[in-house]
Amino acid sequence: MQNRILETERLYFRELTQDDFDAVCRIMQDEETMRAAYEGTYTDDEVRRWIDYKLAHYAKHGFGLWAVILRETDELIGQCGITMQKWKDENTHEIGYLFRRDCWHRGYAVEAATACKQYAFDELGVERVCSMVRDTNIASQKVAERLGMAVVDRGVKNFRGVDMMFWLYSIKR
Ligand SMILES: CC(C)(COP(=O)(O)OP(=O)(O)OC[C@H]1O[C@@H](n2cnc3c(N)ncnc32)[C@H](O)[C@@H]1OP(=O)(O)O)[C@@H](O)C(=O)NCCC(=O)NCCS
Repeated sequence: MQNRILETERLYFRELTQDDFDAVCRIMQDEETMRAAYEGTYTDDEVRRWIDYKLAHYAKHGFGLWAVILRETDELIGQCGITMQKWKDENTHEIGYLFRRDCWHRGYAVEAATACKQYAFDELGVERVCSMVRDTNIASQKVAERLGMAVVDRGVKNFRGVDMMFWLYSIKR
């Protein structure tokens, strides 16, 4: 079994691999999940490239968006972690989260993202973490608020060819 990077009461985190393709497709090919944040589902090729991109991020930074596994069943139910993202001219540590739809509303996103926030402060020693959330994504805004984050900036980001209004949530150590 791969290393457990983090553990919480109900979840553990490990690096994604291409063997997770089917489980990731269940999330990233679901219309409702992807509508809120990503302007549409991913094709098989896009999922493979997306996983490769996450692997490259681990190799470069030593951390990234991890697989979130339910301890009770060993199933991959989401992705959550810390990635380097550009906001305007600045590179920031972003906490990202994305969960399988049948697992929503059970507090998993807050549980996972809270552990990532602590990891960023305690293990990576960063001064500030953020989450970039679309203005229309109420569920994600709630998660950021539960992390103690507040909106510190707003701006348009182009994602997959579409301009979207994003809010920058942030919290200092
Ligand atoms: C955003 C997401 C990760 C939340 O996952 P989750 O496990 O259901 O969240 P939690 O159960 O931890 O709930 C966190 C808070 O958000 C609220 N919430 C969750 N979904 C909600 C919704 N659809 N509408 C309003 N509030 C919502 C919960 O009530 C809870 O608030 P509370 O603590 O005040 O009660 C999930 O909806 C998802 O994967 N969405 C699609 C991907 C996405 O948008 N990712 C974020 C990109 S920035």
